[in-house]
Amino acid sequence: MKQLYVIGDPVAHSKSPLLHNTMCALLGLDFTYACRTVHKEELAAFLTAAKESGCAGFNATMPFKELLLPYLDGLDPLAKKLGAVNTICIECNKLYGYNTDCPGYTAALRQHGFDPQGKQAVLLGAGGAAKAVALGLSEAGATVLVANRTASKAKAITSLCPDKIRPIPWPTADAPDLAGADLLVNATSLGMAGQGEFSDFTFLDALPAACLVSDLIYHPAPTELLRRAEARGLATMDGFPLLIHQAILALEHFTGHAIPPDQVLPALEAAVRN
Ligand code: ATR
Repeated sequence: MKQLYVIGDPVAHSKSPLLHNTMCALLGLDFTYACRTVHKEELAAFLTAAKESGCAGFNATMPFKELLLPYLDGLDPLAKKLGAVNTICIECNKLYGYNTDCPGYTAALRQHGFDPQGKQAVLLGAGGAAKAVALGLSEAGATVLVANRTASKAKAITSLCPDKIRPIPWPTADAPDLAGADLLVNATSLGMAGQGEFSDFTFLDALPAACLVSDLIYHPAPTELLRRAEARGLATMDGFPLLIHQAILALEHFTGHAIPPDQVLPALEAAVRN
């Protein structure tokens, strides 16, 4: 039985063990997946121990997505562009880094019936999660308008794909940029349990009736943003599809097996939503 982990600090809340162990049981894969709290100063020791113990790989969450980069022997081009990894495979004592948040988000959208090609997206936030979404959407052919509390960070994100990503002011009820949106994505921490909340939702009134409103947050699901969007008759997507698709793609890297999403989606949906 090969060992996999998710490391982070804090990480005890992670749903990754549930997702990966559900998939491994369903597909008969000989892997077991556990949660492992690693403090920043313990990272080097964890990596040495993981290699020595024959661990097959691990997922990384806060604060390691960027901190891991100097330790890697190989880096996937997408992860290199983002400057962040969430999936590390260990092969022959070497560490290879990938980012499955970025393709995971576009896979989640497609599963929801939304093809980003030629669409206009408004992205709220410019942190690590927002960067992955902005790159995924722009590479899938969407135009991405980024609004962030700290405008300089929205501007910085545009360097990922200057032709397709541009900064806009934080949206208001009459924001002209929202009228042409096919997709609105919340990648800020606003609405997350224990974090702040949007002080004003009237910007939702500026969205066209066919706009999909997506929140990366899954605790709670739905968020207040999605409840308000639903009340206005807009279609919504909560944070679970991203969580699920980034896990499917990570397990493909760890095991080398192609995992058809249709084979695992019902079990994963049931596991995380219960
Ligand atoms: P993650 O890795 O989850 O993306 P992050 O990199 O810390 O987390 O990014 C958090 C995002 O939420 C940022 O876009 C942040 O805005 P700033 O860049 O201005 O900090 C946004 N955010 C957090 N609290 C916010 C608030 N009270 N109002 C608006 N945006 C907020």
